[in-house]
Amino acid sequence: MSTHFHPLRLTVIGTGYLGATHAACMAELGHEVLGVDVEPDKISALQAGRLPFYEPGLAELISKHVASGRLRFTTSYQEAAEFGEVHFSCVGTPQKKGESGADLRYVDAVIDSLAPHLTRPTVVVGKSTVPVGTAERLAERLTALAPVGAQAQLAWNPEFLREGFAVDDTLRPDRLVLGLQQEGSAAEVLLRQVYAPLLDADIPLVITDFSTAELVKTAANAFLATKISFINAMAEVCEATGADVTLLSKCLSYDTRIGGRFLNAGVGFGGGCLPKDIRAFMARADELGVDQALAFLREVDSINMRRRDRMVELAREHCDGSLLGRRIAVWGAAFKPDSDDIRDSPALTIAARLQLLGAEVTVYDPKAMDNARKMYPGLSYADDPLQAARGAHLILHLTEWQEFRDLDPAAVRKVVARPQLIDGRNVLDRDDWRAAGWTCRALGRP
Ligand code: UDX
Repeated sequence: MSTHFHPLRLTVIGTGYLGATHAACMAELGHEVLGVDVEPDKISALQAGRLPFYEPGLAELISKHVASGRLRFTTSYQEAAEFGEVHFSCVGTPQKKGESGADLRYVDAVIDSLAPHLTRPTVVVGKSTVPVGTAERLAERLTALAPVGAQAQLAWNPEFLREGFAVDDTLRPDRLVLGLQQEGSAAEVLLRQVYAPLLDADIPLVITDFSTAELVKTAANAFLATKISFINAMAEVCEATGADVTLLSKCLSYDTRIGGRFLNAGVGFGGGCLPKDIRAFMARADELGVDQALAFLREVDSINMRRRDRMVELAREHCDGSLLGRRIAVWGAAFKPDSDDIRDSPALTIAARLQLLGAEVTVYDPKAMDNARKMYPGLSYADDPLQAARGAHLILHLTEWQEFRDLDPAAVRKVVARPQLIDGRNVLDRDDWRAAGWTCRALGRP
């Protein structure tokens, strides 16, 4: 069914990674958007088209719509309430300090700050990843605090965007999920208008209850983490048997029931989502008394962590059993390519551990250097991959940026002390490197 598009006035509360992307993309769809954040510095930077993180295409899209007049920013909740017909809540849900569960203080603060200003019928839409049961609690709080009462409706619309593809994932998502208290409600009507261009493009829409909508996101991330840990567990078995995990993965990928995506063995998953989300999911299952159902996720987490230990072990082997005083180059700091995000990055945790064990570690990353320097000031940093490799006994390739695949193995060989390379992501062309005289190792390959 084609819906006639009519632009709405939307607010996007929280202008971090998710919010900045959502705000820019909603303006791109044709809506008038007001971005809201409590940090004035963030707001003035965004208004000037500057992003505090790297995401391909996003700064350009923000500038485009600041210029078109469809995108503005404010720190005022009152202004947001007066402006918006629909309010998207896009704040973070980090892991609680010293605990596995999610910290919901920002999600709660959005309702507490916005609701008292809601004097006409409106919809508040949660997009953050939250423990199942949160939406129901927030809906009650919203009704209780809003002057319009039950005419301030809550909906849950999880976001599945990947860093590095955030704009594309938002404008062309695989599916839209709407968690509603009641089908056919005002919330549904308004959200169908918000997403009309996507619905016209035949993006599948699934209407669910709150709990299902909350669970879709956590279940998707748990599945992806499991798929990565599955192939990494196979890599452990390959290492014990002389089999090659990249060939194994290739053979599995032709089975359409399995598929090849998220089946690359290596140093494992990191980032701001997968690790924290599976832990928060286990913590919530504990509270619900279904901890057994998710016991396997503990194993998924341990397999993932073991890959980092294994990389350190392999590095030690390549340094004749002792890391003391050995120069090691680490290529990559971001948790994955096309991102400057270093949260729970396997590359940096491995680099830091090698340094603790006495190695002299020099790191290079195309985009994540500033973030890495701030978080790990004790490591050395180089301006390019060759400079990092100068005098090295060993190179570790830990984040698979295209820049590393484009390097000439012969040129790198000229600057190192020993031509030894371990590919922690299984993407470099080993034949090329070997032909240039390198000793190459990889996780899960003979
Ligand atoms: C993830 C989900 O993909 C996204 O849908 C959700 O909204 C947020 O969390 P993101 O954190 O951007 O997105 O990263 P993703 O592309 O999923 O990669 C996660 C980690 O897994 C990275 O460290 C990546 O290097 C690693 N990975 C991915 C592998 O080790 N092997 C693979 O085959 C795929």
